[in-house]
Amino acid sequence: MSSVLIKGGRIVDPASSLDAVLDLRLRDGAVAEIGAGLDAAGDEVLDAAGTIVAPGFIDMHVHLRDPGFPEKETIATGTAAAVRGGFTSVACMPNTNPPLDDPRVIAAVLRDARALGSCHVYPIGAITRGRRGRHPCDFEALAKAGAVAFSDDGDTVDDVRVLRDAAMRAANLRAPFISHCEPENEIVARDLRVAAETQKAWHLAHLSTAAAVDLVREARERGVRVTCEATPHHLTFTNALLAERGGVARVNPPLRDERDVAALRAAVLDGTIDAFASDHAPHTREEKEVDVARAAPGFSGLEVAVGAYAAALPELSLPRFVALLSANPARILGIPGGTLAIGAPADVTIFADRGWTVDPATFLSKGKCTPFAGKVLSRAIVATIVAGIVRYRARELAA
Ligand code: DOR
Repeated sequence: MSSVLIKGGRIVDPASSLDAVLDLRLRDGAVAEIGAGLDAAGDEVLDAAGTIVAPGFIDMHVHLRDPGFPEKETIATGTAAAVRGGFTSVACMPNTNPPLDDPRVIAAVLRDARALGSCHVYPIGAITRGRRGRHPCDFEALAKAGAVAFSDDGDTVDDVRVLRDAAMRAANLRAPFISHCEPENEIVARDLRVAAETQKAWHLAHLSTAAAVDLVREARERGVRVTCEATPHHLTFTNALLAERGGVARVNPPLRDERDVAALRAAVLDGTIDAFASDHAPHTREEKEVDVARAAPGFSGLEVAVGAYAAALPELSLPRFVALLSANPARILGIPGGTLAIGAPADVTIFADRGWTVDPATFLSKGKCTPFAGKVLSRAIVATIVAGIVRYRARELAA
């Protein structure tokens, strides 16, 4: 198998408390060696001087639209966008057609991802059959097929008895439940109660309000096992953008006001938010470039996410920035990666502290709509290495 030597980058691996300028060797799909002045003996060499070398980034909330919506995205295009955005792993949401409520559909996604994908793909199974909120799925069968979490995504399970019953059935599985909470504050409070009652590991997707992050803090003080994530858009924009950009700015949960954006940023800085997640939700131009009322909610996120998190949170330390994108999502989902310890998977993200301007025309995602169009972001992806193979390399990286 191929081997790669990454020379002279600043290696930041919060899981092993490493932050130092060193060389990193990948061999046979794993991290083989870290040290000073490693010799190139037959390796493909990447000169990483002036860049940051991190464990491969994981986006735990992505809509790949496959199966069912090839006009919006496919596994091939979504994972190409992922590696361009610095992600070596994505977890994909079950609102596909058919939905990911059947082990055979999960197996098909994994088969296609292995054949056509540029990065690792981890399916998120549905909580209820057809995501219709009535009958819990066979969680054991879905987990066995490869589901790493369960969620009905945009269709919040309305009936609390169904949710409680589902959580009890899944309580012994490691895979967490992931809630899309709308209306946000009310459903966050409800799901924290169900998590406490059932002891099910619980994750709250894309928190966006000051009240929701307060509820999480309180629940944790009571010992509830809950984690949560924040998106680039909720950390950046307010609802003022709707008047400016119309349907392009429409998303669920919606953009909030300045106070909420400030509270969400503070929640990242104080450790309440565990993970960054893009909620990459590509739609066609025809579905987005219409008035707000008719526009499909969501937009492409994978190719702007890393730069956007950095631009929104310049005061966040580099090790925490990296942890929110690697070690933390790996731990929440119980998936490989998240560290550059010797023997860990050869998944590496190399990035630079460099400003760049978002041009959606260059996106590899089929979804070309983003409220970040034209914005200058900080931190650019230099290279993405998946299982020891360089899957993306910016022109600036000398070979
Ligand atoms: O805006 C959104 N769009 N939020 C979601 O949670 C679902 C997503 C989609 O699938 O388009």
